[in-house]
Amino acid sequence: MGKPVDIKIALISSNTSFNEDLKKALDQESRAKKDETFHVKEFHSVPTMEEAVIHYSPHMVIVNIETDMRSDKLFFLDQLSRIAGRIPVVASAAEMDSDLILSCLKKGTRDFIKQPIDSIEVRQIINRLLTDLPQLEEDRQLADTFSFFSYKGGIGTTFLAANTAVALAQMTGAKVLLWDLVMQNGDVPFFFDYEPSATMIDLLENIGAIDGHYLKGTLPTHSTGVTILAGPKRPEEAETVRNDQIQNLHETLREYYDYIIVDSGHTLTDPVISVMDYAKNILLITDLHLPVLKNTLRCLDVFERLGYVEGKFKLLLNRYNSKYEKFDLSKASEILRYPIAFSVMNDYVTASRSLNAGIPIADLDRECGLAKQFTQLAQLLVREFMPLEEKPANWMERLKLMLPNFESLVSARKGPPSKGETVKGSAEEKEQSHAA
Ligand SMILES: Nc1ncnc2c1ncn2[C@@H]1O[C@H](COP(=O)(O)OP(=O)(O)OP(=O)(O)O)[C@@H](O)[C@H]1O
Ligand SMILES: [Mg+2]
Repeated sequence: MGKPVDIKIALISSNTSFNEDLKKALDQESRAKKDETFHVKEFHSVPTMEEAVIHYSPHMVIVNIETDMRSDKLFFLDQLSRIAGRIPVVASAAEMDSDLILSCLKKGTRDFIKQPIDSIEVRQIINRLLTDLPQLEEDRQLADTFSFFSYKGGIGTTFLAANTAVALAQMTGAKVLLWDLVMQNGDVPFFFDYEPSATMIDLLENIGAIDGHYLKGTLPTHSTGVTILAGPKRPEEAETVRNDQIQNLHETLREYYDYIIVDSGHTLTDPVISVMDYAKNILLITDLHLPVLKNTLRCLDVFERLGYVEGKFKLLLNRYNSKYEKFDLSKASEILRYPIAFSVMNDYVTASRSLNAGIPIADLDRECGLAKQFTQLAQLLVREFMPLEEKPANWMERLKLMLPNFESLVSARKGPPSKGETVKGSAEEKEQSHAA
């Protein structure tokens, strides 16, 4: 795929004179270039992720950080980096200081436009970002897939897959498909008290007809924000499903969703492995009961033989209660030979209420511990399991390397961070430190 011809830029700024100057500079650039035309969509207030990213699908985002909206804009940058970290983001501010630059960089900002606008600088920045776009276009078309699997039944695979999918959809506003790949008696719809009108078998039979329109009509988005793809209704339907069909369906679906969460059940069948092969991560679920640990160890052996490495698979510990467990987390990691990437608390009452009502945890009680943990897990998936509070070593030096005009950007203007920013930053850091 070549470089896109129409470059869509989301401009988030309430300063009309800044917007006009920037659009003028971009118009000039459009006229000067034969290949690209820049289209700017202005957002005068801070848009939701859905408005700015999902609906508009920009190739770039430019955010003007007005002093009175500083914390809201930084929060927006933070959300953007979590759900669409591959979209290049440029920031600008009438009052740029080193704290603001640091905050923006930590949230994935690639460059800065000085004010008042210098059209030559805008051209240089835009041209730098354009070089990344072909790759970006290709990446944007395929969903990241996360396969939830355990080698033993009844330990919460469906519960974790379903609730993580809901948290991911609600946190990001992205299109999340929850695929029940359990071929016999899959029970994902049950967790949502949902009666699907179509199943995986219908999609396999109509694979040639699948497009955005077909999926919208066939797989409506559930009120929780996720789209549910149910497994076969009757066990005998599963017998005819071939591995290559599943692979093909997976590749097709990846074009229409941002994330695919798969309930892969407990059996390493060919279809399950074929989806795992292309998954970004496999979440291998275990708990600390000896029979489960034994099976998890067996599964890790199989993963090693399949060539999956730690990083591709991540260990997820369910129903962990530090008070009553025989082992602590480090002992569990030692036994399993791999680190535990995340642990989910044991909350029998809330889990049972959710299951009996067919209401996912986030909609049942957004404030409960389990709901918060599912949001943290969704964040980890989006951030590629990077420790949420990680800061690069030698931060100032890296900054200077990344920003040739760093000195001039921070000169003279340094002032205290806004109150809003300090408060939000510290709360966020606290929350994140719990997640890892
Ligand atoms: N963290 C948890 N705290 C308390 N109960 C939980 C937790 N996780 C799962 N459960 C409960 O464990 C039971 C089994 O969960 P689930 O059906 O998700 O397991 P599974 O591994 O998918 O089982 P199956 O073999 O039927 O596919 C459910 O009743 C669920 O509510
Ligand atoms: Mg299950």
